[in-house]
Amino acid sequence: MATLELLGCPLIIAGQEVETETREVVRAPFDGTPLYSVSQAGGSELRAALEAAVQAQKDFRDWPLHRRAALLRRASALLEAHADEVARVLAREAGKPIKAARVEVGRSVENLAFAADAALELQGETVPLDASRYGEGRLGLTLRVPRGVIAAISPFNFPLNLALHKVGPALAGGNAVILKPAPQTPMTAVWIARLLREAGLPDGLISVLHGGAELGSRLVAAPQVAMVSFTGSAGVGAAIKAGSGLKPVALELGNNSANLVDASAELEAAASKLAATSFAYQGQVCIHPQRLIVHAEVYEAFKERFLEASRKLVLGDPLEEATDVGPLVNRAALERVQSWIREALELGGSLALGGEPQGLILPPTVLENVPSHARVVCEEVFGPVVVLQRAESFDEMIRLANDSRYGLQVGVFTRDLSHALRAAREIEAGGVVVNDPSTFRVDNMPYGGIKDSGFGREGARYTLEEMTYAKLVVLS
Ligand code: SIN
Repeated sequence: MATLELLGCPLIIAGQEVETETREVVRAPFDGTPLYSVSQAGGSELRAALEAAVQAQKDFRDWPLHRRAALLRRASALLEAHADEVARVLAREAGKPIKAARVEVGRSVENLAFAADAALELQGETVPLDASRYGEGRLGLTLRVPRGVIAAISPFNFPLNLALHKVGPALAGGNAVILKPAPQTPMTAVWIARLLREAGLPDGLISVLHGGAELGSRLVAAPQVAMVSFTGSAGVGAAIKAGSGLKPVALELGNNSANLVDASAELEAAASKLAATSFAYQGQVCIHPQRLIVHAEVYEAFKERFLEASRKLVLGDPLEEATDVGPLVNRAALERVQSWIREALELGGSLALGGEPQGLILPPTVLENVPSHARVVCEEVFGPVVVLQRAESFDEMIRLANDSRYGLQVGVFTRDLSHALRAAREIEAGGVVVNDPSTFRVDNMPYGGIKDSGFGREGARYTLEEMTYAKLVVLS
């Protein structure tokens, strides 16, 4: 009975807020308070959303660029006007500390504006057909054409901004979007659709469907879907790719981010930046510093500073202004992270910092002497856990950084320019950040991985390339 009194979280289909019989209750990770009774999409809702998207996109694809850009700018302004409300919705359902939730909203405001800018810059090119003796007398050019309907599957950890990394460029390019948010964070996605509607987006161009893996599989396999964009784990990414047939797929997957602290690094700055970002949002960030690879000459000095800064972090209720570290997203996540810590200790690792969980809040945990095959080293931990690794030389630091099946983004702290350049050239990753942690990100930069971290790039300009295709026109 209690669930009937809960605030409903609807689906959005063809501009309508739709409630269904089948519901799931979403609870606050911090204290288990029931937040919403979430309508679940079945086959008929999926069909309705697909049909609405296909119809609506037929007009939208011909919208001039200035209209698409203006719409995205209005959505950005509306989000800014509702920033506090959206940050609180996000903080509550994702368990994200409110300070971090506000940053996410601020970045999302910019992200929508970057999508508007990218729309205005969308352009094809001329092709010199007469470079070939068989092409003389013809004019070749390319048009950027929307793909059609984009399936966007977004994660719980940045439920607003990572969804907008898909939705913004999709709309900038003249596509319709069907957004399937993570089951833990449904209401933030509903806010996206409501704001876009208020900004003037015609019905059908964004649908929000709540559901689990089965809905995701049906969505990506649907013939009406022209492209799939997914952010999440490598395992699910592989399944989505396999289930998408021949559609183009963009995958932004995990990482076990290396951060190198060289002998020449400015230790105070490296330690405080790395402590703040290693445990921010409980380490539930794809680029959270997980492996800190420290030169032996400065290992002890860095460790002391890093532990001291980590001990100062405030644990608690995500809605409290002072909180730095809140709860993991659910009990299963907590238990998995704890079991990986136990495994590391059983394999000979030692605990430099850590403690018992309070509810779902796991205190910042720092491990040392962990063998490279322990999961806290070689897999993505997605929790507030860091492993310190000692290296005897810069060569070894680079070797350790590259000893990973992932390659998203890496941080390098050094004052030695030649080491910075070597890192930039030799580290196998989508991005190398010098003198900031691997978490550095602003939303116009190209962001994405290599190896098992996926492929495709976020950043409106880059995603827009992927969400449109070059159609060749030959005039003779
Ligand atoms: C991610 O977890 O991949 C996103 C990180 C960010 O956007 O800051």
